[in-house]
Amino acid sequence: MTLPVPHLGERELFPNLEARAYLAHAAISPASRAVQEAVAAVLDAYGRRGAGALLEWLPVRDRLRQRLARLIGANPEDLALVSNTTQGVLDIALCFPWNPGDRVLTFQGEFPANVTPWKQAGVEVSFLPLPRVRNPEILSLLEAELQRKVRLVAVSAVQFQTGLAMPLREIGAMCRRYGAALFVDAIQAAGVVPLDVQAAGIDFLTCGSHKWLMGMEGAGFLYVSPQWVERLRPRMAGWLSHEDPLGFLFPGGSSLDYERPIRKRADFLEPGTGNLLGHVALEASVGLIEELGVPAIHAHVTAYLDALEQGMERRGFASLRSARRSGILSVQPPAGWSLGDLHRGLARRGVVCSTPDGFLRFAPHWPNHRDEVPFVLATVDEILRQGS
Ligand SMILES: Cc1ncc(COP(=O)(O)O)c(C=O)c1O
Repeated sequence: MTLPVPHLGERELFPNLEARAYLAHAAISPASRAVQEAVAAVLDAYGRRGAGALLEWLPVRDRLRQRLARLIGANPEDLALVSNTTQGVLDIALCFPWNPGDRVLTFQGEFPANVTPWKQAGVEVSFLPLPRVRNPEILSLLEAELQRKVRLVAVSAVQFQTGLAMPLREIGAMCRRYGAALFVDAIQAAGVVPLDVQAAGIDFLTCGSHKWLMGMEGAGFLYVSPQWVERLRPRMAGWLSHEDPLGFLFPGGSSLDYERPIRKRADFLEPGTGNLLGHVALEASVGLIEELGVPAIHAHVTAYLDALEQGMERRGFASLRSARRSGILSVQPPAGWSLGDLHRGLARRGVVCSTPDGFLRFAPHWPNHRDEVPFVLATVDEILRQGS
């Protein structure tokens, strides 16, 4: 059966989505019919033929790398498919050619995925303050730190609590000026905020698939800029990281040899059997995003959030949204209201959002229609009138 063409603001591809307004894409996206059918097709093939289905699905990895590369302005050979955002951070934290005394700089309020691996790699990690105000001054603070020598700056493209889209181009230019590498956690941006690794001078970028890319949990990707791939130490290499890794499994192929060189390509960081279900899901969901185009999705989501923000502010909620728009509107409730009560009250009435770190976070995506906004605001009114 052919699937409906995706349209901004239409949820035909989400026929079983229960919420009247699903606004938790910054947490986990619902699976579209495209995703559900892609996964079902793999399960059907493996159910019938087991190992006989392997070769049919092997090209998914290449196709997916191509699609993801287009999304971030990269070349497909500079991408590795990894299991989640954290895995991409870990890969670089453990393979980076650190020197004694190297320092990683990140921001207060970063999601821990972009903190723990650097600490575990044994390098010094410093935090720049990132005040929770609408438009925090970032660049002058960053420059002052870079003058004190930093080997790598690790930052989220969009901050998970406030939705602040970081000025990546300016950060990238500044990192280049001071000789620091730039590492970006893109999971709150890719799929809703346009990204271009080359224009921003990004050295490494990691992203999981279950938020704005609308795939499933347990799949993601890592971009490694070509200037770094040769310099990484292959500490995370595995059996699939060698040149011709599958040859010894097939008749007429190469024989078993543990000394085959490790590939000098980003995909040496695909060390073992991959998450095929996650990959076909991601290929399907990114296909829809590509059809719609990220700039159009960004404009659509911005218009939705402009209307919602105005309405929430009129009701006494304080917005954390900055002029640097992302897919996130985070608000603080009026005095006397508990976040948990509001969140539960909204969910019971069909408005699903999330509550990271003390905020009520609304995150619509391309299938959300602007007509939902009056319903969300009426639901807020009802809760404020009646209690949760
Ligand atoms: C900025 C950010 N990074 C990373 C993650 C998650 O990382 P992972 O894909 O490794 O679970 C989240 C949310 O879950 C996030 O908001």
